[in-house]
This record gives sequence, C-alpha cells and structure tokens, in this order.
Amino acid sequence: MKGVILAGGTGSRLYPWTRVNNKGLACVYSPTGNFPQLHYPLQTLINSGITEILITSSRDHCGDIIEFYGDGSEYGCELTYRIQEMDRPVTGIAQALKLAEPFVGRDKFAVILGDNYFEDTFKSEVEKFAKDKKNDCYLFLKEVHDPERFGVAVINNRGKITEIEEKPKEPKSELAVTGLYFYTNSVFDLTRELKPSKRNELEITDVNNFYVQNDICKGKILEGHWQDAGTCESARDIINFLWEKK
Ligand code: DAU
Repeated sequence: MKGVILAGGTGSRLYPWTRVNNKGLACVYSPTGNFPQLHYPLQTLINSGITEILITSSRDHCGDIIEFYGDGSEYGCELTYRIQEMDRPVTGIAQALKLAEPFVGRDKFAVILGDNYFEDTFKSEVEKFAKDKKNDCYLFLKEVHDPERFGVAVINNRGKITEIEEKPKEPKSELAVTGLYFYTNSVFDLTRELKPSKRNELEITDVNNFYVQNDICKGKILEGHWQDAGTCESARDIINFLWEKK
C-alpha cells in the first residue's frame, strides 16, 4: 500500500508563527529527539509498513519540507512531493487528496494528516485492508473530551459507524474521526463530485459519509494516545505526552 501525508493548509490557528513557517515543520521537543511535527505521521506510515509516500504541501513551504526530508532515504522511505495551491477559491483536505491520484494509480492507500500524532501503529490493519474485498474505507476513531473540534462519528450497537458530522455544535458522541484514512482509488471519483462546504473547503467528512451510507466503511476505536496539533494547546499536549511516556 502507498501513503499520502497532507501537510498543506494555512495553519491559521497557529498564527503569527505559521505566516512564514509550515506547521508541519514546527518543532516537537521530545526526549527522543527534536523532530518536526511531520515526523510523527511519517513514522506512523513507515512503522505500519508503508514506505512509498507522497507529501502534499503549500507552495510557500514545500521547499523547506523537501530540504528537510529529501528523498526520504535517511528515514527508510521513498518520498514524492506535490504542491497544493492555497490561493484557490476552494481548498480543504479532500481537495488536497485529489492531488494524490497520479501517485496512487490503482493501488489502495493510506492518507494521514500532517498534524496528527498516533501512538498506535497499523501494520495489521494495513494487511487487513489490502485483502478486504468488501470495504473501500477504514476509519480510526478515538474518544475525546472536546468532540466539537472534530469529525464526530456515531456508532450503532454492532460497532458500525452510522453517521459522521463535521465539527457539530452538539456532538452526538465523543468519538472523533482521527486523521488517518484508508481508501481504495474509488475515492478519486468521489472527490470529483464533491461540492464545497460553507467554508469553501472540500470536506473529508463528506467523502467518508459516502462510504458510511453505502455500508462499505469499517471503523475501529483506537486504544493508544491520539492527538492533532491543530491548536496551541493540543501541540503542547503532544510534547507533554512524549515527555510523560519517557
Ligand atoms: O485531526 C482530525 C480532524 O482533521 C478530523 O476529525 C476532521 O474531520 C477533519 O476535518 C480535520 O479537521 P481539522 O479542523 O483538524 O482540519 P485542519 O483544517 O486543521 O487540517 C488538518 C490538516 O490537514 C492540516 O494540518 C494539513 C492538512 N490540510 C488541511 C487543509 C484545510 C491540507 O493539507 N490542505 C488543506 O487545504
């Protein structure tokens, strides 16, 4: 399976620092080394057996990411890069995902958001998905105390996801949809049909809801720590977690 890391966006919640720096290259100070944020999703893919990886980022910052990671050989992977133009009327996670089509071709693949930290690794899920003939999408859920910040999944008594709402004011559960998604290349047909949301983004939740509604999506609740670094507080919490884990 191939992997895609989405590291575009504007990082506006971390302004002013992200006016000139990519959020993905922000330093995560840790007892095991001072690596950029992007290091963690990259390691999640590599530790899950995925080494052929595309990184998408904005024009302003792609150069810095390439300078840091190069061809990936230092980290045991093979990296390719694509620019997501951020000055377009419509952006968003699902718009960035479209850029991966030529890289992915007919393969199945994993997408991970550049600001997500996972304690778990996903080797067995990657193997299951590679063989899975029924489901076109795997999602990974985590119980959180602030679900309104995320895509929120509702599951039924058989553990099936029945619905996902993006940043609901009144969340129906505490299960956040984390930023790791496994897809077949059917996802590219879907992204072509998507309509922008009110905030002018192509929403990944709209993509995922298609798979949920067609009963071809499998969800798994994670046991290990998960966090995104979308806000200053959550970026700090990742650093605290890594120091406590030591
Ligand atoms: O972290 C998990 C959450 O990520 C999910 O629960 C939500 O359903 C999903 O929409 C997303 O929410 P965020 O509000 O955290 O998304 P954000 O706009 O912060 O983007 C997260 C990462 O995705 C960002 O660090 C880089 C990448 N991204 C984002 C956008 C909007 C891109 O590569 N391009 C983009 O245009």
